[in-house]
Amino acid sequence: MSATDNTHRVRLYATGSCEGFDKLRDSLASHPEVEMVGSSTDVASGAGTLAGGHLEAVLHATRSTSFPADEINAIRSHTRAPILLVASSGSAGLLEQALDADVSDVLLLPQLVENVVFAIRKSTHSGRRHASSNGGGGRHGKIVTVFSPKGGTGKTVMATNLATACAKFEGRKTLLLDLDLQFGDAAIMLGVEPEKTIYDLVVAPGELDSEKLAGYTTKHACGLSVLPAPLRPEDAELVTEAKLGRLLEVARESFDVIVVDTSPFFHGPMLATLDRTDELLLLCSLDVPTLKNLRLALQTLDLLSFPKSRVKIVLNRSNSKVGMKPNEVEGALGMKVRFEVPSDRAVPLAVNRGNPVVIAEESADVSRAIKSMAKEMFRAPKEEAASKKRRIIPAFSKA
Ligand SMILES: Nc1ncnc2c1ncn2[C@@H]1O[C@H](COP(=O)(O)OP(=O)(O)OP(=O)(O)O)[C@@H](O)[C@H]1O
Ligand SMILES: [Mg+2]
Repeated sequence: MSATDNTHRVRLYATGSCEGFDKLRDSLASHPEVEMVGSSTDVASGAGTLAGGHLEAVLHATRSTSFPADEINAIRSHTRAPILLVASSGSAGLLEQALDADVSDVLLLPQLVENVVFAIRKSTHSGRRHASSNGGGGRHGKIVTVFSPKGGTGKTVMATNLATACAKFEGRKTLLLDLDLQFGDAAIMLGVEPEKTIYDLVVAPGELDSEKLAGYTTKHACGLSVLPAPLRPEDAELVTEAKLGRLLEVARESFDVIVVDTSPFFHGPMLATLDRTDELLLLCSLDVPTLKNLRLALQTLDLLSFPKSRVKIVLNRSNSKVGMKPNEVEGALGMKVRFEVPSDRAVPLAVNRGNPVVIAEESADVSRAIKSMAKEMFRAPKEEAASKKRRIIPAFSKA
């Protein structure tokens, strides 16, 4: 294994032009530490990817010899990712002006490609530090979205139990956000009776901040905070993408992890959530229609430039005897199943009692599987890379 095999590849977008930039861009595109998400000669043509491409850095080349404020502002209107400015010649004061304008670095060409990669890595690292030092309490919570393009696959069971496991067994400050905006039932599954929902939060006047968010969440006995779906389906449309985007940013500042339950659709709020999702748990079951829809969902995610490395396939009811094996799922999806969660009668019993199965039947196989998923979410990247080589949840034999 080479030294770079385990290195995270920086998701980079290249824009603009200057002398020598084409050559540099090509070298970066084939560099093992860089994932070139796209490029465009002007900022406007790259708007879609700049806004939604989960970028970690933007490399912008300019022909201007003075500081190109308009070009940088145009990039900033789409993304908060660190920007590195490249030019073939620069005036005195360019560096100072650029750094004052929140540009991470200025590189005058020609440069060795290794030096440029080093500068890009440095900018993404200080970008992360900056983000966490700005967040209230220094947090930068992880957003874990539970999705499946098919109804009834177990999204709410998984989201509620995973969030409970994070709060109770991993001791993490956890928020469960119910984004099944029309018919969400996360609160019922947890047995909480909320006074307020996400609807009350988005229609409340004034700026949203951590304190305000805390005033709208309901606490479960295990320590988990819950922000339920609106009580009436017609109120769902008031949860706009912009409001949700802000909500997720604020939630990140005050929680270690935000588990998002969803409906089986790629609607606006779901797209806004995907833009901020660190880990997407795609739920699947051993049936052909679900697999067909999951393949389509994977294609849609690809079109949205959602990074594949953030997708984890979860096979629910993995031990069901229905004439299909987990490895056939892997074959059909072209992806490894990362977690298997068995079917267990304890689940519907717990659902009907409004008590998460990870608490009601702590040592049941299904609970152990979900608790392992929660633990896995907080593993250091190196440990995670090592564990990828094997199936994390042992095969369960119960029918
Ligand atoms: N591992 C499991 N073992 C046994 N029953 C399960 C399991 N997972 C889910 N179920 C059952 O399947 C039913 C549907 O689950 P759930 O409500 O979580 O699905 P969903 O994907 O959220 O559905 P919707 O798309 O309607 O929101 C639940 O009543 C639950 O009891
Ligand atoms: Mg559901």
